[in-house]
Amino acid sequence: MSLQYSTTSFAAHKDEAPFAVAELFFSRTDDRGVIAAGNEVFRRISEYSWEELVGAPHKIIRHPDVPKGVFYILWERIKKGLATGAYVKNRAKDGRYYWVYAIVSPVEGGYVSVRLKPTSKVFETAKAAYAEFLEQEEQDGLTPEQSAAAIRTKLRELGFPTYGAFSSYAIAQEMHARDLALSRVEDSRLKSLKNLLPTLKSLDEQQKSLFDSFAKIRGIPSNMRIVASRLEPAGGPISAISQNYRLMSDEVTNHLGGFRVENGNRTLTESVMARVYQGLFMMAASRLQREVKEVATEALTGGAEQEGFHQEVEVLTKLLDDYTLEAGGVLLSVFNDVTALARSAKDLRQLVTGLDSIRVLCRVEAGRLGAQSVSLTPVIDQLDTFHVEIDKTLEQILALADKIKTLVEAAMPRSFSGSLQYHAAGRR
Ligand SMILES: Cc1cc2nc3c(=O)[nH]c(=O)nc-3n(C[C@H](O)[C@H](O)[C@H](O)COP(=O)(O)O)c2cc1C
Repeated sequence: MSLQYSTTSFAAHKDEAPFAVAELFFSRTDDRGVIAAGNEVFRRISEYSWEELVGAPHKIIRHPDVPKGVFYILWERIKKGLATGAYVKNRAKDGRYYWVYAIVSPVEGGYVSVRLKPTSKVFETAKAAYAEFLEQEEQDGLTPEQSAAAIRTKLRELGFPTYGAFSSYAIAQEMHARDLALSRVEDSRLKSLKNLLPTLKSLDEQQKSLFDSFAKIRGIPSNMRIVASRLEPAGGPISAISQNYRLMSDEVTNHLGGFRVENGNRTLTESVMARVYQGLFMMAASRLQREVKEVATEALTGGAEQEGFHQEVEVLTKLLDDYTLEAGGVLLSVFNDVTALARSAKDLRQLVTGLDSIRVLCRVEAGRLGAQSVSLTPVIDQLDTFHVEIDKTLEQILALADKIKTLVEAAMPRSFSGSLQYHAAGRR
């Protein structure tokens, strides 16, 4: 696709190196990206010998079709200890190419990269986007950092708040596409997590509409007081009612703080969404890790790998345990936050019921005043609309919170499901 942009001598090679969907491979590097080890599939596809690979920088298989910004983001993140996924096109020794989706994870003393063959629709989009970024890099003379910024901007335009969020989405899609290609059933845990994303989006919308509704009624008590002052001396009770309404609505507004985090800068749902993306990544990575560990163990037992390969199996096993633990921890925190959010919504509903009784008082008082109270009618109508709106929104928030909790429960790693029940019971 983007060969026309390549300037190096091997650009003419259009052939793809054979790499089957069922295969997985990995390599391990030191903290500067110098190759330390890998499995036989890695070596075979690269077409180099172990003597050539071990001790060489990983860029030995770099293909010029990958924008510099991709590696900039990769290194920036892994140096911070963040496991990162990326589409990478590689070049075998004879110039043939092969695409991978790689998950690079920090391990003791360096990094491990596990790869699968990408087959999802996201991959097609990524390939086209890489060609655009490459062109932009070349035409505008972008530095790797500038190219990374352009990539992040594009991802935000596509609805991914961070590169990490995109990484999570891509790995989940690749795992799903791979399951399909290999005629396997879709992983139910990953499916639940993927379904969480649109549900959280709806929850965020409902939360925002709740904030909007409350913003709209802020001026109502003052309006009521103005009307009451015009009705003097008969407006006394309305004035008292408006004061009560203000006091209670202030309390309710304060309670809305329970829906916000980070000093009110982010909605709780936005913060939960970031963790769901993280959980999705960890769950998908742990599945991939489990499979590559099994492949490696089999190869070790079958004598297909080099001496000392058992160390690599140990590294992969530890990584699998870490991912499972982290995925479980992240999902547990999501479950607890959503439980807290549901509780906030229930408290809010109770407070709003109190507020509603003041609205009813207002209506009764207006009735008592008869024709005199005609100027109160629009204010009371506004209150009626507000209360209907709030009831509906809170109802939806509670239903969505329940759905989210069910999906999180279904997504939890098996070893964690017990702790969920314990937490849920303890926090009721
Ligand atoms: C564990 C690990 C695996 C890597 N795998 C690849 C790879 O398969 N292909 C690649 O081009 N770069 C890979 N890299 C990134 C390279 O270190 C390097 O950043 C990249 O080839 C770009 O090199 P350049 O910036 O010198 O052009 C990997 C890095 C790490 C830490």
